[in-house]
Amino acid sequence: MDIIGILGVACGSVAIPLAATATATSVVGISQGVSAQQRAAAGDDSGEADKEDPRLSKFNLLVQSEDQSSSARHLLQNKCIVLRQGKLYLDGADPNYRIFSDGHPFSGFYLDYPAGKKPMGLVSTISREPPELNWIYADRSDGCVKYGNKSASINHIHGAWDWTPDKTRLTLEEWEGFVAVEESPGVFFLAYDQNDDHLASLGEKRRVVECCLQRVLEPPKTEK
Ligand SMILES: *[C@@H]1O[C@H](CO)[C@@H](O)[C@H](O)[C@H]1NC(C)=O
Repeated sequence: MDIIGILGVACGSVAIPLAATATATSVVGISQGVSAQQRAAAGDDSGEADKEDPRLSKFNLLVQSEDQSSSARHLLQNKCIVLRQGKLYLDGADPNYRIFSDGHPFSGFYLDYPAGKKPMGLVSTISREPPELNWIYADRSDGCVKYGNKSASINHIHGAWDWTPDKTRLTLEEWEGFVAVEESPGVFFLAYDQNDDHLASLGEKRRVVECCLQRVLEPPKTEK
């Protein structure tokens, strides 16, 4: 069976619609299969190690801020990232204290982006049911971090995503250039400050606070 073909189709398309019976774990399974297959093809028989490829571990995202120039950093501390209305918002880590009833907590992992030099991409589920995956990318026009299918993300900054040397935090284009933008009082969404100017060159006038994104590994799924 052509596993690589299946993965290519899966990631090349939109929200990766997983079969009705599948969970997001299946996609991990598929990509592990590819890596093992590629290693086998390369004559490397250590394919077993693949099952523990830490890039494929699913994680949630928590926000931390040490931006001494902004008193708003306290508003961001330990907020979790949720997906809603095309953007990544900051909301309460405790589900009982969330302000957005339509927010889906980021739950994602790294996956090669299927275009260009195939930089390391980042995907997240966008809803619980069905468990579809979208690419996470930064919009070039306003820096806003968004989620979408391949055609939505391809002309924007979709990689390379990575982690800090201690693997605890996210990086994009090899640095932690993340900021939170205050959309309305106390409501922040995530953006990427590529020019390191608090989005001034992109015309952002609202409050912009530097932050970083901590990877919080999800407990392994127990098989049913
Ligand atoms: C990809 O998403 C866009 C919206 O961002 C939508 O208009 C388009 O139909 C989607 N493409 C596919 C192949 O579904």
